[in-house]
Amino acid sequence: MKIVFGCLVVLFFLSCNTTEKAEKKEIIVDGAKTYDVYQPSEMSTLMKGMYAYNMQLKADIEAGKELTGEFPEAFLNIHSAVLSSAKFRTDNFKHYSAKFIEAQQEIFSQDTLTTAQDRYNNAINMCLSCHKTECTGPIPKIKKLLIK
Ligand code: HEC
Repeated sequence: MKIVFGCLVVLFFLSCNTTEKAEKKEIIVDGAKTYDVYQPSEMSTLMKGMYAYNMQLKADIEAGKELTGEFPEAFLNIHSAVLSSAKFRTDNFKHYSAKFIEAQQEIFSQDTLTTAQDRYNNAINMCLSCHKTECTGPIPKIKKLLIK
């Protein structure tokens, strides 16, 4: 006899609508295999990467390191990455994704009158501008990226 176990585990991570972590992850065990049902969207995965990248950049700027890196081309996927099913690429999203990319590229521009810190904070403020209308949940987390 084949025994099928099903169990629902509520896992916590940041969703768009809540500052609390509250999204379900379903794990189905059929005796032989474990199926992990939660699939982050392409956009979600990209966002997490952008977050981690900028956290490192923040550390470098705060440590006074010279920014020798380049704008990560993968960020351009913001224009095409698939959003989670309930979300749409609104006009607002398109507007801010272009502004954000511009600001993130600007961080690495050589001849500029602003400091690296100002250019960096500019880019993070573009994350926040988009999130204010498109995805409010992660805002407190993104604010931690700002250099004070
Ligand atoms: C043009 C709009 C826009 C910009 C710019 C933007 N985001 Fe997002 N972000 C979104 C949307 C929409 C989602 C939800 C994605 C989904 O559900 O598919 C999201 C999701 C996230 C998440 C949650 C990912 C998860 O599933 O746990 C984090 C964290 C995040 N963004 C951080 C950032 C950071 C950091 C930046 C800037 C470096 C940034 N975002 C720039 C719109 C934006």
